[in-house]
Amino acid sequence: MNILLLGSGGREHALAWAIAQSPQCDRLTVAPGNAGMERLADCIPCDIEDPRAVIELATRVKAELVVIGPEAPLAAGVSDALRDAGFLVFGPSAAAAQVEVSKTFTKELCDACGAPTAAYAHFSDLAAAEAYVRDQGAPIVIKADGLAAGKGVTVAEDMDSALGALRDMFGGAYGDAGAEVVIEEFMEGEEASFFVLCDGTDVLPMGTAQDHKRAFDGDQGPNTGGMGAYSPAPVMTEAVTARALDEIVRPTLAELKRRGTPYQGVLYVGLMIRDGQPRLVEYNARFGDPECQVLMMRLGAQALDAMLACARGKLAGATLNWADDHAMSVVMATRGYPGAYAKGSEIKGIEAAEAGDPLIRVFHAGTVVKDGTLLANGGRVLNVTARGATLAEARERAYAAIDRIDWPEGFCRRDIGWRALD
Ligand code: AMP
Ligand code: GLY
Repeated sequence: MNILLLGSGGREHALAWAIAQSPQCDRLTVAPGNAGMERLADCIPCDIEDPRAVIELATRVKAELVVIGPEAPLAAGVSDALRDAGFLVFGPSAAAAQVEVSKTFTKELCDACGAPTAAYAHFSDLAAAEAYVRDQGAPIVIKADGLAAGKGVTVAEDMDSALGALRDMFGGAYGDAGAEVVIEEFMEGEEASFFVLCDGTDVLPMGTAQDHKRAFDGDQGPNTGGMGAYSPAPVMTEAVTARALDEIVRPTLAELKRRGTPYQGVLYVGLMIRDGQPRLVEYNARFGDPECQVLMMRLGAQALDAMLACARGKLAGATLNWADDHAMSVVMATRGYPGAYAKGSEIKGIEAAEAGDPLIRVFHAGTVVKDGTLLANGGRVLNVTARGATLAEARERAYAAIDRIDWPEGFCRRDIGWRALD
């Protein structure tokens, strides 16, 4: 079949790699894609947040399935427009994607279905928000309501940083995303990401992972989009997973369905776990990045079967075959990220890094080829991903591969997986 994948990051490279392996895939087009995907797929420029442009492209390439990677096209109504035009789509409607687009929406959804999450209050006025924070005390969590590319959250350890975050948000630091602010109770525990496919009715768990949000070793430095991930997450035991499904995921999906906005696609369930009790931190309406890279590394071609069953509304009875394996993905970023950084530095040694080993894959997150030279073209640039019988083996493979990459302007964390390995 002809498949169209939307997106241009490491998540989409990993999806493209898994999809392209499937015998069901005859032709893969990625819009816009990146330099790493060019060998796997036709990469075609397109404004993927413009529903008309996407429909035009899907028609042109005779797409029989459209897989939507990032959240922005979902929020822009691209999945709805494609479905209205008769295309089979993997990705929730704009109405269901509100779980990611609006933190207030998700908090109210949790209230409505009884899903455990942090206590919260919602404000559109600075003075009232300040009064609430003073009353609650620190630590406390301040969140811009809307999409802020993963940057609109401040976990404030003390009152000064809490008040400072409020002033920044109401002062326009996140544009419209910060015009409304959610203030949450600080939850202690260990975080994990849990991925489930939902076809509107049925649910298929698609794996667990743990991300590393801080830029530097030892969980120091500023928050990023994610500096590395591994799967599975040991904290997601069978019992915790069952509780997350029963207490959080299924009630949420049932409530969305009851409201006439069933969820169809992958739901990213961000959890905080303490004493075996999972509580919801956030939902995203897409795969995590870099969590997707480790899931795809473990699942391979069967990921496409699952996404197809999901898009077709046929998840009932679908299963995934999990090997007893582990995967790790280490993000290489341009020095300066998540602050200001330069684009255009040359990267060498990708083939040497992969060394013909099928257990190692270097997914590209932000690269371009100019005059035959591979250049960094973003903050997060490469996702060096490896599989192993144990997490320690996956880590060894991933870091050995990194050491074969020649890119002086890049950096990575050296401690991905520490929580599960130490
Ligand atoms: P979010 O974008 O909502 O996932 O928040 C980003 C990060 O902030 C999360 O991955 C957590 O590490 C942290 N965080 C968010 N909300 C809370 C909370 N209520 N308690 C503790 N940490 C939180
Ligand atoms: N890695 C975190 C995210 O994708 O939101």
